[in-house]
Amino acid sequence: MRRIAVLTSGGDAPGMNAAIRAVVRAAVASGQEVLGVQHGYTGLIAGDFRRLQPRDVGGIIDRGGTVLGTTRCEALKSPAGQSDALRRMQEHAIDALVVIGGNGSQSGAAALTRLGARVVGVASTIDNDLVGTDMSIGATTALDIAVQAIDRLRVTAASHKRAFLVEVMGRNTGFLALLAGVAGGAEAIVLPEAELSPEALAQEIRSAYARGKSHAIVVVAEGARHNAEGMAQYFREHAERLGFDLRITRLGHIQRGGAPGVFDRIMATRLGAAAVGELNRNGHGVLLGILDGRVTASPYTQVVNAVKPFDRELFELAGVLAR
Ligand code: F6P
Repeated sequence: MRRIAVLTSGGDAPGMNAAIRAVVRAAVASGQEVLGVQHGYTGLIAGDFRRLQPRDVGGIIDRGGTVLGTTRCEALKSPAGQSDALRRMQEHAIDALVVIGGNGSQSGAAALTRLGARVVGVASTIDNDLVGTDMSIGATTALDIAVQAIDRLRVTAASHKRAFLVEVMGRNTGFLALLAGVAGGAEAIVLPEAELSPEALAQEIRSAYARGKSHAIVVVAEGARHNAEGMAQYFREHAERLGFDLRITRLGHIQRGGAPGVFDRIMATRLGAAAVGELNRNGHGVLLGILDGRVTASPYTQVVNAVKPFDRELFELAGVLAR
C-alpha cells in the first residue's frame, strides 16, 4: 500500500474541498492510504498530518474554503525549508504529494520535484493565471460573486445615473476583471494588461453618458496601476471639473468565500481523481488542469513561471459591446 499526502496552499479557492474529497476517495478506492496535511506547506514542514478516510471527507463538496487549512509559507521558498519538507515526507513514509493551489504553491511543488519528491499539482486559484489550464478551481465561483455584485450595483447606478467602479481580485493579472467585466456588461475595464489613466477613464464615462447610458460600470483589477485607490483619489480631487463622481466598491476577499458553483465542483472532482490516476501510473512532476475540455497533465517545467497569454480579442470585444 502506498501513502499519499494531500495539501491545500496559498489563497483558498471555492472547490478545494471537492478536490480533497476526490483525492481521498479515489486514492482509497485504488488501495492507497491518504494523509491530510494541515495548513499547507507549513504543516508539511512541521509534520502536521492526519489520516483521511472516505467518511472524513463526507459533506464537504459544497463547502467553500479548505477543511485542511492553508497558508502562504515563506519557509518553503528557501532551500532549507524545502529540504525540511522532503525530510518530513521521508520520515512519514509519504510516497507522493498532491498540491492543490495556485502559482506560488505550484512553484513550491516544482521545487520539491527537483529535489526528487513525487508531486502532482491540481490547478486551483481564483486568479485563473495558471498556465496549463483554461480555468482553475475557484475562478468561476469567484466570477459569479463578482458578477452578482456588479448586477446589484448597476440597479442603483441606473436609478441615480451614477458611475460605479468595482475592484476585483486577481493579484497582478486581469483575468478575473476581464471576465467579470464582460459578464457584467461593464462600460470600461481596467487591467494591468490594458491600463487606462484616470483621465482616460473619465473620458470613457463622459462618452457613455453622452451616448445616452443611464449609468457607467467600471471593473478594475486590483493589480492595475490605477486601481480603486488611485482612481478614487483622482476622481475625488477632480470631482468639480469632471461634473460627476465615481462610487467605489472593493470586493476583496468576498470573492473567495461562499459555496463552490457546479463548474468548480465538477472540475475539482475530475482533477482530484486525475491526480491520483497520474500517481498510479507513476506520473509526477506535473500540473493537472483542463485544456479544451480535457484533463491534461502539463510538466512543471512548462507551466511554472510561465505567463498565461492575455485574451486581447475578448478585451477588444468588450470595448465594442460597451458602445
Ligand atoms: O491568489 C488569490 C488572491 O485572492 C489574490 O487575488 C489576491 O491578490 C491575494 O490572494 C490576496 O491574498 P491574501 O488572502 O493573502 O490577502
